[in-house]
Amino acid sequence: MTALMAGMPVHDEERGVHHMAEAHVEPVIRIEKVCFGYGTKLVIDNVDVDIDAGQFVSLIGPSGCGKSTLLAMLDGMASPDSGSILVNGQAPRPGDPDRAMVFQNFALMPWKTVLSNVELGLRYRRPELAKKGRREIARHFLDKVGLSSAADLYPHNLSGGMQQRVGLARAFAVEPSIMLMDEPFGALDAQNAEILREELRSLVAEENRTIVFVTHNLDEAIQLSDRILLMSAGPSRIRDDIRVELPEVHSAEYVSRYDRYREHLWDHLRHEVETVQQREREGGGAS
Ligand SMILES: Nc1ncnc2c1ncn2[C@@H]1O[C@H](COP(=O)(O)OP(=O)(O)OP(=O)(O)O)[C@@H](O)[C@H]1O
Ligand SMILES: [Mg+2]
Repeated sequence: MTALMAGMPVHDEERGVHHMAEAHVEPVIRIEKVCFGYGTKLVIDNVDVDIDAGQFVSLIGPSGCGKSTLLAMLDGMASPDSGSILVNGQAPRPGDPDRAMVFQNFALMPWKTVLSNVELGLRYRRPELAKKGRREIARHFLDKVGLSSAADLYPHNLSGGMQQRVGLARAFAVEPSIMLMDEPFGALDAQNAEILREELRSLVAEENRTIVFVTHNLDEAIQLSDRILLMSAGPSRIRDDIRVELPEVHSAEYVSRYDRYREHLWDHLRHEVETVQQREREGGGAS
């Protein structure tokens, strides 16, 4: 993928894990010295991250560390208390057409049909389109996620997996250059999640999209990402920034490298999760 050319790998001899070094192209997302808190509680503590066009970046970290908060800031729904966030060179505002968000709970309008739900995003993001144009685009993306025949059904007629397909179609239909995804497969059963991961992979492969993807699932992060950012227990910092480079899926090397990534990530994540648990035992809350 093009994104992999942006940073030179630094090899960790011991584990065979690559970390990101300096990028040489203008980043699509620039998070600079960002701090954010709710009231007096500091949640994000001095986070610095640049994300290049076309990168698939996963955010992982213990529950409550601030992953959704960081996504909300990238989507313009919250502003940093200090530092700055630039998306395509500008401070993000809610509803900017360059981004789309996919949530864990699907967030579909229950009173609208599947087709209308997909159209809805287009109505706001591409107001210049006539109804016919919106319909055509919505049908095209429903077809891509295998839901053509469900266009006239309502969300309550659909399984969770199908609902999240509608969520993906709705997000892709506005053709955003950036997709923010907050545990999009977290509410699905294992098989549906696997199928949707494959669909996401093929949707992403067609376009040079930048994805910021929150997950608790290490395997999902390793399989989908070019890069994994591991956040610490709150107040959250970026504890590790790992570049994922895997060979052909069926090669022997794939398995050994995959295992190294997993072991490395889990070593670090476990430490952060244990920190949170320890605080909870001491009555200090999650962060
Ligand atoms: N609106 C709010 N008001 C006050 N505190 C909040 C609010 N939203 C989140 N928090 C707190 O901020 C911290 C970060 O929350 P956030 O939802 O970003 O975590 P997360 O990493 O997404 O967690 P999870 O993995 O469980 O989804 C948590 O301690 C949470 O309790
Ligand atoms: Mg969250």
